[in-house]
Amino acid sequence: MQVFTTPAAFSAWSDAQRVAGRRVGLVPTMGALHEGHLALVAEARRHADVVAMSIFVNPLQFNRPDDFTTYPRPIDDDLAMCRAHGLDAVYAPAADAMYPTGFETHVEPGALADVLEGAQRPGHFRGVTTVVAKLFGAARPHVAVFGQKDFQQLAIIRRMTADLDMGIELIGLPTIREADGLALSSRNRRLTAEQRAAAICVPRSLRALADALAGGEHDTTVLTALARSVVLAEPLARFEHLEIVHPDTLQPLTTIADRAVAVTAVWFGDVRLIDNVLLAA
Ligand code: PAF
Repeated sequence: MQVFTTPAAFSAWSDAQRVAGRRVGLVPTMGALHEGHLALVAEARRHADVVAMSIFVNPLQFNRPDDFTTYPRPIDDDLAMCRAHGLDAVYAPAADAMYPTGFETHVEPGALADVLEGAQRPGHFRGVTTVVAKLFGAARPHVAVFGQKDFQQLAIIRRMTADLDMGIELIGLPTIREADGLALSSRNRRLTAEQRAAAICVPRSLRALADALAGGEHDTTVLTALARSVVLAEPLARFEHLEIVHPDTLQPLTTIADRAVAVTAVWFGDVRLIDNVLLAA
């Protein structure tokens, strides 16, 4: 496995792969790897001959300085995990290689970034689109794999890739969960044991909502209130939002007539967890 720390060196590796006729797969991450990331790598392998992972904690997408400084960065463990799982390359640039002095160009997402997470975290998606565009520019992959846990992120990256004619196949992988239903996330490792136990109220609330829909309740006000009540019953949880929107437009729905997605964010201490469930009437 080769490890690159500059865009030029990573691009040279990727160019050589393409010249040799190999399909290049990219799995963009911020490290603190877990089984969810490994599932993305396994999926990339199914669609590419060589797979690279980027590991970069992107300062541009953090709207809270404390979240950025406390974000876990176990780079040695991450590299060992990548080696053990057969990654062909890792791109782990330092911040000044990614954003050298004089850097000033950003990718401005459209209306998809104004709602849900975007409304709660100003500037977050602009940071995501900018860094992903840079990662795509350095890697020029044939295919890139993202988790559906960040549902809105994936929708925005799909839009960017199409709008900017990037010609990259995007694959969204369903969320990988612990046995009790909690979505895998690098932030889970910052939960105390009590908060970790309490956090199952998040998937439980989404399950209650999906079950009520399956039972014939289509009114999103009723469904939202039901899910919210599951979280509010947990004393260690601080409910932030839960919305039911159309999966393509991310616009709110009053009733579920066809496809929908329920997205939520809940706090446990200073850790913010997000989750979602795809719904069909
Ligand atoms: O989902 C993430 O880990 C990040 O938002 C991403 C896509 C790697 C961009 O920094």
